[in-house]
Amino acid sequence: MDRLRIVGGGRLQGTVTIAGAKNAALPQIAAALLSPHPLELTNLPQVSDVDNMLSVARLYGARVERNAHSTTIDAGDIVSREVSYDTVRRMRATVLFLGPLLARFGEARVSLPGGCAIGARPVDMHIDALATLGAEIVIENGLIVASARGGLKGARILLGAPSVGATETALMAATMAVGETEIVNAAREPEVADLAACLTAMGAEIEGAGTHRILVQGPTGWQPAKHHGIADRVEAGTYAVAAAITGGELELTNARIENLAAVIQVLEIMGASVRPSNRGLVVARGGPLRAADIVTEPYPGFPTDLQAQFMTLACCAAGTSHIRETIFENRFMHVPELVRLGADIALQGTAATVRGGAALKGAQVMATDLRASVSLVLAALAAEGETIINRVYHLDRGYEQIDSKLAQCGAEIERLRD
Ligand code: EPZ
Repeated sequence: MDRLRIVGGGRLQGTVTIAGAKNAALPQIAAALLSPHPLELTNLPQVSDVDNMLSVARLYGARVERNAHSTTIDAGDIVSREVSYDTVRRMRATVLFLGPLLARFGEARVSLPGGCAIGARPVDMHIDALATLGAEIVIENGLIVASARGGLKGARILLGAPSVGATETALMAATMAVGETEIVNAAREPEVADLAACLTAMGAEIEGAGTHRILVQGPTGWQPAKHHGIADRVEAGTYAVAAAITGGELELTNARIENLAAVIQVLEIMGASVRPSNRGLVVARGGPLRAADIVTEPYPGFPTDLQAQFMTLACCAAGTSHIRETIFENRFMHVPELVRLGADIALQGTAATVRGGAALKGAQVMATDLRASVSLVLAALAAEGETIINRVYHLDRGYEQIDSKLAQCGAEIERLRD
């Protein structure tokens, strides 16, 4: 397994090209299976989660042509077949194929995703949304078995919480439900709005995506389509922390300020400056880092996917920061590893108290989940001496060429291939 060797202490200066959003790409690959016509997706990030999602699409019989700048998915001849637990176990997002397959074929069998490092992550709201549209769903032998012999019918779906995945499942299924579907308490994440934009390009009739209330008219008359996905706001926020934690200055091209309002607010409280540029935005930090209090919330609140990265920044800021994780029940896997680097962090349930200011010192650390892993990279950039990060495959799931992007900005980083 690859490892990363980082020697900290340098200031990062330069430009980082922000890739397409992983969490926009994954549902759009699933959405391609709704239509018998080709869907061309440009701006897919070169990350392993996208590779895996495309390989599952192929398992259903989709033809996938991929090059550096565009991927075409032709689902003209797919069949609805079961995808193994082993496949779904490795990537939860494959549950997003459930809605499209049920909507298109009237039946679908997708393995119930297990939990993952950050929590149980059930899919009850996905299942309830499909049942509201008229599907019959049973769980047997670890499989979600869904059927809708008479087809799906438009309905009012009230989500118990603004779940991103459940909103996406409801949205995709509703495109083939007869009549109007109203999704209430929908997730407002930019990736949901981007999925709606992709479905609209394919021929769907959707209004209100990006708000708490989405209306869909079905069934959809599909057409060949092309869609350019949004840039990854989590990658952008991660590199913004890299600039702030090293006291440097980075231009993040393709990043969109309007998707990062809550993040920029905290960056400025902590002593960084953020300004728009004609290619994206510039993040810099010249003065001292200051502590901040953070509570993760559904969009437009502070994103849970940047909690670990900002906790690392807080470790280097004078003063005490209080961080509360409200979305997942176990998203502090980075804490023991940060403590190994010299951080002073105390946990009480889903709250963390970070006493910042002590210098971090390099050590051997272990990556655990995608965002915890990148917080270790950020800590290593600020730590004195050498840090070795093991199990780098976690990083490759969601960050495109992170070692070369950081090296180009002056980081002393190399990938050690086993
Ligand atoms: C999406 O996961 C993202 N993944 C996550 O990013 C992100 O952290 C999360 O949204 C929140 O923003 C993708 O888009 C592929 P949720 P998702 O449904 O859809 C509970 C990353 O690092 N819940 O909004 O799974 C769930 O357990 C990943 O890129 C139910 O209880 O998130 C969680 O506690 C990590 N029942 C909370 O809701 C359900 O049916 C939010 O989950 C669905 C969710």
